[in-house]
Amino acid sequence: MNEKDLKNLLNDLSLDEKIGQLIQLSGEFFSSNNDISTGPEKKLGISSKMVDLCGSVLNVVGARETHRIQDEYIKKQKHHIPLIFMSDIIYGLKTVYPIPLGLGATWNPELIQEAYKNTADEAYASGNQVTFAPMVDLVHDARWGRVLESTGEDPYLNSQFAKSMVKGFQSELPKRGIASCVKHFAAYGAAESGREYNNVDISENRLRQSYLPPYKAAVDAGAKLVMTSFNTLNGVPVTGNKWLLKDILRTEWNFEGIIISDYAAVSELVAHGFAKDNREATKLAMDATVDIDMKSPCYASQLQPLISEGRLDENKIDNAVWRVLKLKNELGLFEDPYRGSSEELEKKSVLSSEKRKLACKVSTEAMVLLKNKNHILPLDNKSNQNIALIGPYENEHELLGLWAVHGDRSETITIEDGIRKYLDSSKLKTAKGTDILRDKKMLSGIGLNDEQISSIVSSDKIEENNNKKAIEIAKNSDVIIFAAGEHTIESGEAGSRGKLTLPDNQLKLLNKLANLNKPIILINISGRPLILTKIVPKVDGIIQAWFPGTEGGNAIADILFGKSNPSGRLSMSFPSDVGQLPIYYNGYSTGRSIETSKHSSRFMSRYLDIPNAPLYPFGYGLSYSNVEYSDIELSSNEMNRNEKITAAITLKNNSDIKTIETVQLYIRDPFASVVQPVKNLKGFKQVLLSAYESKVVSFDICKDMLSFYGADNKITIEPGEFQVFIGSNSNVKKFITFNLK
Ligand code: IFM
Repeated sequence: MNEKDLKNLLNDLSLDEKIGQLIQLSGEFFSSNNDISTGPEKKLGISSKMVDLCGSVLNVVGARETHRIQDEYIKKQKHHIPLIFMSDIIYGLKTVYPIPLGLGATWNPELIQEAYKNTADEAYASGNQVTFAPMVDLVHDARWGRVLESTGEDPYLNSQFAKSMVKGFQSELPKRGIASCVKHFAAYGAAESGREYNNVDISENRLRQSYLPPYKAAVDAGAKLVMTSFNTLNGVPVTGNKWLLKDILRTEWNFEGIIISDYAAVSELVAHGFAKDNREATKLAMDATVDIDMKSPCYASQLQPLISEGRLDENKIDNAVWRVLKLKNELGLFEDPYRGSSEELEKKSVLSSEKRKLACKVSTEAMVLLKNKNHILPLDNKSNQNIALIGPYENEHELLGLWAVHGDRSETITIEDGIRKYLDSSKLKTAKGTDILRDKKMLSGIGLNDEQISSIVSSDKIEENNNKKAIEIAKNSDVIIFAAGEHTIESGEAGSRGKLTLPDNQLKLLNKLANLNKPIILINISGRPLILTKIVPKVDGIIQAWFPGTEGGNAIADILFGKSNPSGRLSMSFPSDVGQLPIYYNGYSTGRSIETSKHSSRFMSRYLDIPNAPLYPFGYGLSYSNVEYSDIELSSNEMNRNEKITAAITLKNNSDIKTIETVQLYIRDPFASVVQPVKNLKGFKQVLLSAYESKVVSFDICKDMLSFYGADNKITIEPGEFQVFIGSNSNVKKFITFNLK
């Protein structure tokens, strides 16, 4: 439709029709057996008339169901405006990739762009037009369950992924692909104490310096929508925060797309203590330019009275509706309300062999080898070794993680499936040994009923037998692979935890296995960095596998048997103790740093009982090769503001195994008018090295890498000394300095 016709359509709409476009409801509202008198309308407190006028649908996927809803509801509207289908397609639709924290560990945004393009293809074919992704919240606290959805703790790395994910989803727009909604704006990842939905209190300087860049990168990459976050920011809930949404997002960043609230976040302005009632909440959200109210009764029931009372200018509604209509039009929904989706296309597109192949590559690159004592890995499947695969993840299909809401678990390659491709039954024995989780109190605390609990927790008798069988098998083996980890429900949204170890029952089994004095390789499945401090000495190898996705079992086996050389690097620090949280590599020196202070050891910035350093730092990961870094060479140790200098090193692969090395560039500004982090990632390169190959790797350093937000919260750059580090992780110590003139 041309712009003039679209404007005419807007002008023709009644107030109710306009309000309908600003409401998003979930699938049960459109279900064919919905009973109006008892159904979701009643529970939410909105009229069925508003359901009929609703403009967008949440989390319904599949060509058949989206077509049914579209057919039924488009007819109900006088102007036949098509619905738009929006869903949480966060790290895959049917072909599921590793959780984003694993995607972050690939340090390979180009690969993830390809993966997200495939996801967009599946979503498009299945009748979806918008995804609520990427989630780019910066994360420093592993207690927060949603670290699973983030690519990690670094503003630069997260920004690279934010860009690539948006491009992956949207590169084929308007014809194919899907629109991307970046979330959760802003700083949701800084929830106090890692407790879900908790408040966020950070300075504007910190917000701009660390938290906002990934959202900005997504907006600059063209994300069509932005979702508000649940948290308050310095006392003001984001969904009613005019400064953040209007002044920064719309005015400073020039964002012209749709702002959508998170689920029920408009009505939660009341619970926050920010609005006295739903009417006030509606006004505050509208004033902050929130266009779509996701699943709350507010816009549906309160916009009309606000207009009648003369408290809201109808222009504000028109502006919001215009943004919604514009997106629908841009996506071609007025011409084809199914937008090319069909059951045939869906069948061809989802879980195709090419897509699975890419998922396996992504999953492999996401694995991080944390320990490899005496080169226990890779295993040799041609040797006579007997292998015992023990642990609750031995043959578990649930390897997708909590936010793979549309993923099909029956399509997952389990760890056992993967390993069986390398070993026949004579060399491989398996036993589950224990359940993933046996904490009935936790399970009933999150509302599971007895039947659901007993599907997770076996009886004590079965548990005892499982234990015995596992130990017997392990005794007769040469190497034990222990497939362990968190339960899916322990991470993701509302998955905050205060203890971050493996569940007790798994630790007990591991202790028994360790007493057998055989080499143990831990495959750790988790949605977050777990505390592995007490586990590390008990095992010889550790592969951090995250929730590895549909092809997880194949990827794990390829790493175990050396078909793939691990190249993953942590994008979030692994703490050595919960007491260190929040922890991140790019913190500040303090006046009494343990590294440089001359005070006695008590009066320093440290804990008395645990170390300051994480167990495994940001950027860390091993491979089966041994890569050596030379000293850094600078093209000059003086730099003029508008020029560049180059920092270079020589890498040498001292092994006969081909490898991908992720070379990381960090810069420190050691003295500034606002103190700067001890190091900041400013660049990285993935370098392929053949056996014994050497390569020179260089980085250009330019002024943008040296700037920061000054005390006035404006970008500034100050002359003086800068330190340059190039290494294999954020713990790199050697640096070289230059002077900025
Ligand atoms: O997209 C999600 C968001 O991340 C959390 N609340 C619900 C939304 C829609 O499902």
